[in-house]
Amino acid sequence: MRISPLAALCLLAFATPVAANPFKRVAPVADPLVRKECGECHMAFQPGLLPAGSWSRIMDTLSDHFGDRATLPPDQVKAIAAYLTANAGGGDPMVTRITGQSWWQREHRMAAAEWSRPSVKSKSNCAACHAGAEAGRYEDD
Ligand code: HEC
Ligand code: HEC
Repeated sequence: MRISPLAALCLLAFATPVAANPFKRVAPVADPLVRKECGECHMAFQPGLLPAGSWSRIMDTLSDHFGDRATLPPDQVKAIAAYLTANAGGGDPMVTRITGQSWWQREHRMAAAEWSRPSVKSKSNCAACHAGAEAGRYEDD
């Protein structure tokens, strides 16, 4: 039997499932040290939200952490870096902000007014809009 090129294309489309956004649901932060030290000024972001390279860059530059100072004793830096990189997700390792990743920007193309709501304050304030943020749940239900 001969199949037409169009039919072949359709078959290919079925064989290749559309990849679900892997960031919809990420594992919660399990390490108590990370919860404490990285959850002081903002929510402790789940390791699955950034690739290992981004976490390494963040942990190597804590003395100038997005304009703030977030230094820790060397043994804690080492332990936290190990946890974050071992549980890292995908994305661009040259970009250190979750809100700077292209998948994030694709999902958040909304009006500027949304971001200036007093309850939001910052794009990185995930929990302002995602009730399940602390638990790593970002899907829209
Ligand atoms: C002294 C306060 C402080 C501590 C402690 C701190 N951070 Fe931050 N962090 C900040 C500030 C301020 C920003 C920038 C927030 C903004 O732009 O809205 C930030 C931003 C971030 C971002 C980028 C958020 C985005 O825009 O996508 C990541 C990732 C991050 N921090 C990870 C960590 C990790 C990992 C630790 C623990 C080692 C940590 N932070 C500890 C203050 C802190
Ligand atoms: C001002 C509100 C707001 C803030 C702050 C915000 N988001 Fe979102 N986010 C949305 C909206 C609206 C959508 C699109 C609708 C939906 O899927 O929930 C979305 C979608 C997403 C999705 C895709 C969900 C899906 O079902 O495909 C992820 C993942 C996500 N956000 C993660 C984050 C993370 C991580 C942060 C913090 C760094 C964040 N968001 C901050 C409003 C926000």
